[in-house]
Amino acid sequence: MPARVRRFAPRDTDAVVALWEECFPDDPARNEPRGVIERKLARDPDLFWVATDGDAVVGALLGGYDGYRGWLYHLAVTAERRGEGIARRLVERAVLELETLGCVKVNLQVRRSNSMVVGLYEAVGFEEFDAFNLGRVIGS
Ligand SMILES: CC(C)(COP(=O)(O)OP(=O)(O)OC[C@H]1O[C@@H](n2cnc3c(N)ncnc32)[C@H](O)[C@@H]1OP(=O)(O)O)[C@@H](O)C(=O)NCCC(=O)NCCS
Repeated sequence: MPARVRRFAPRDTDAVVALWEECFPDDPARNEPRGVIERKLARDPDLFWVATDGDAVVGALLGGYDGYRGWLYHLAVTAERRGEGIARRLVERAVLELETLGCVKVNLQVRRSNSMVVGLYEAVGFEEFDAFNLGRVIGS
């Protein structure tokens, strides 16, 4: 059965934690999945989607919109379901919802160590912009 995309619901928490642990084993402590989900639900629960097949969560994507730019984070599809277009469907849903909110540009970051996924984002309409990418970690 093809996966469908819907908004994240709190009952998906354990499955998304497992998915992110599978897909992002080297994430820093600040991206600890339960903390990420808790903060997202407290701040802006709508821009968060899962791809499901029956009761199983097979993909997930976080978004954000601050009134100026939209952002995508933590796109993940479980290993055995890759290559079926699930990431594409998650990204298209996110872009559509961001556009509905008035968003005119969507950004995302890819770690250099994960540069092979740049091809995926190009396949779904993103292009590289020539800009420095800076961040500041708050706390330690
Ligand atoms: C990256 C990831 C989400 C892709 O999920 P997926 O469901 O297999 O992707 P899709 O099947 O939707 O692919 C969509 C398109 O991108 C292309 N694509 C997918 N992975 C690609 C890659 N590594 N390089 C180039 N193109 C790629 C597909 O061919 C497809 O193009 P098409 O529709 O024109 O045929 C998945 O591999 C994953 O979870 N990886 C680990 C987590 C990760 O690195 N996430 C990204 C963080 S920035």
